Amino acid sequence: MTTISVKNDAKNAIEEAVQHLRTGSVVAIPTETVYGLAADATNGLAVAKIFELKNRPSFNPLICHVDGLEMAQQYGEFNALAQKLAEAFWPGPLTLVVPIAKTSDAHELVTANLDSIGLRHPKGTSAKIISALGKPLAAPSANRSGKISPSTAHHVASEFSGTDLLIIDEDACSVGLESTIVKIEDQRLTLLRPGGISKVEIENATGLKVELPSINTKILAPGMMKSHYAPNAKVILNCEECAEDAGWLGFGEKAFSAKAGLNLSKSASLIEAASNLYSYLRQIDDMGVETICVAPIPEHGMGIAINDRLKRAAADKDL
Ligand code: TXA
Ligand code: MG
Repeated sequence: MTTISVKNDAKNAIEEAVQHLRTGSVVAIPTETVYGLAADATNGLAVAKIFELKNRPSFNPLICHVDGLEMAQQYGEFNALAQKLAEAFWPGPLTLVVPIAKTSDAHELVTANLDSIGLRHPKGTSAKIISALGKPLAAPSANRSGKISPSTAHHVASEFSGTDLLIIDEDACSVGLESTIVKIEDQRLTLLRPGGISKVEIENATGLKVELPSINTKILAPGMMKSHYAPNAKVILNCEECAEDAGWLGFGEKAFSAKAGLNLSKSASLIEAASNLYSYLRQIDDMGVETICVAPIPEHGMGIAINDRLKRAAADKDL
């Protein structure tokens, strides 16, 4: 049975989470991006439970969540550029991939034996849990591998119903999409995954150009796999029309009398659309349509991250 520990008892919820984490259990925690399935990053058995629960391919490294730059520097080597990015965007939806520090005791399952580590300082309750535990938390999104990421405690509960899992509830995640992942190699910045912080914001903060990974880059992030974030229904993108028996995921003013229809943002706000994306895909999917038609989403700002997720949701699942 999943247990949801509710937000109006925040102090108890933090203590309960820490107790579970200390004994090597996995706890679902809220972050500003999506809910995470968290374990003590230094405890190999606990981290292995995340992979088992998610049914996740083991070549994927996990993000290590910290409560600030000081803890981050124990795990990763921060040059001046990495420090500048952490100071500009933490706490927040930016993951920095940096060389592993000699002082790191993160389990190798977390880093998948790479010589780099992904670190992020999240906002809110999750950071308080990390501080109370005194250790970083390895936490991928709290969904089964390849499925839609959860932005509410209720989504997590339905994803893992029947599993013994403590879920810490907080308001719905405000960003709604996973963090931006940037790899830092000396003065070189590579965008591994678009997300809550845009490429332009990073370029403005650093004065450097952010490169996109070359097509030869091997899969460095599950978000880079072709089929990911996938509903059960077939997803068709950039639709200007929608059949009556299909589901319609709109953006802006256009409306259809579809079997199941939701609008990501009637006022065409990309920020609002990002925060609704996963929850709406899930709701339309739950209505049992065979096809979901998605309106065109402008390819700028948060629209780049939204389109990235939509393309993967629409990809052929056999790939
Ligand atoms: O917003 C988020 O980032 C959410 C919340 C829970 O924090 N977490 C999340 O984790 O999306 P996950 O595991 O679903 O995605 C982590 C990504 C993966 O794509 C992984 O490959 C990449 O981070 N990653 C982690 N460490 C890495 C490393 N050393 N090198 C390259 N990629 C890395
Ligand atoms: Mg994920």
